[in-house]
Amino acid sequence: MHKFHPDTLAIRTQAERSDNREHSAPIYFTSSFVFDDAEQARALFTDEIPGNIYTRFSNPNNSEFVEKVCLLEGAEDGVAVASGMSAVFTSIAALLKSGDHIVASRSVFGSSHQILTMILPKWGITHTYVDIESNEQWEKAIEPNTKMLFVETPSNPSLDIADLRFLGELANKHGIILNVDNCFATPCIQQPVAFGAHLVTHSATKYMDGQGRAIGGIIVGNKELIKDVRFFARHTGPSLSPFNAWVFSKSLETLSLRMERHCSNALALATRLQANAGLSGVKYPFLNTHAQHELAKSQMSAGGGIVTFEVNGGYDNAKKFINSLQMISHTANLGDARSIATHPASTTHSKLSSAEQLAVGISPGLIRISCGLEHIEDIVWDIEQALKS
Ligand SMILES: Cc1ncc(COP(=O)(O)O)c(C=O)c1O
Repeated sequence: MHKFHPDTLAIRTQAERSDNREHSAPIYFTSSFVFDDAEQARALFTDEIPGNIYTRFSNPNNSEFVEKVCLLEGAEDGVAVASGMSAVFTSIAALLKSGDHIVASRSVFGSSHQILTMILPKWGITHTYVDIESNEQWEKAIEPNTKMLFVETPSNPSLDIADLRFLGELANKHGIILNVDNCFATPCIQQPVAFGAHLVTHSATKYMDGQGRAIGGIIVGNKELIKDVRFFARHTGPSLSPFNAWVFSKSLETLSLRMERHCSNALALATRLQANAGLSGVKYPFLNTHAQHELAKSQMSAGGGIVTFEVNGGYDNAKKFINSLQMISHTANLGDARSIATHPASTTHSKLSSAEQLAVGISPGLIRISCGLEHIEDIVWDIEQALKS
């Protein structure tokens, strides 16, 4: 049988056509589904037959979105949820119990840090942080009660890279779960399952939507683990709205095309900024000055859409830079068609102490650019004029 390419699967995978013969999948905006008869209802509730019962459990739009992401990630099964954070939380809470331990990279998204440090300890789930790039630290931190390795690669915002092959082997050696937040890379440029990840989470809010419209998330991976995740999600209720699932599913049709432009713009921007004498610390995984350039190239097919750099003069000049931008948006998101600038020290990571910020690579002058799809010359122009002013 012909094996379709991922780009094609993301376009042609679709919910079953209804009797109306629609070409584009409709939005199934319904809370529940009608049973044929009492016997069918009974069989659906006991899982003897597949089918939709209630949108908190499943819905054709959510199933279509899940099927596409599974095909793109090479995963067996998945569950769509209401946000990237509910994907992270559900993927942990569904599978771990009191007394279990997680080893996580120190440089995780701010809310993942709050889950690990403030929320999970309430239920007796502990963690140890390690430096993302230190294979030695990952291995050393494993305790007899460790049940999961949790990592985000490339990390936000420091763009450090975890060695996914090493972590996949380490997790299998210890019989524990490797859980990867793949939001920054997207399945178009990195498929953690191929390196041994058992679970992959996404904030679909970012590149999967790609136009800054809807909040959502997804967990995909090994079907036995997803069975437990589905049970947890069905009964605790972080379900994704079918409308948002429809938005994400339609956007997946253009994900690989958009990622090509996000990545080519980001590489061009990073290369141009590196030549700017007034800047230091330009960081991008596919620049050969990135300390883990070879590792990045061995597990990613492109460098992603995020570039970081340091504004000379620290915190105050970084804020002046943000205020001087004329086109690039100043907003708390990334992965949008429109370029976005963020000053992590005063916004996304302001809850961390200065020492904690520095430990995860956030200096006072660090700027994160989410490279959009605009013409590269306009992105470069805006950044250069803001730097001058
Ligand atoms: C790497 C990463 N994971 C998870 C999230 C959370 O996603 P959401 O805002 O959809 O809950 C974000 C949001 O910025 C993120 O950058």
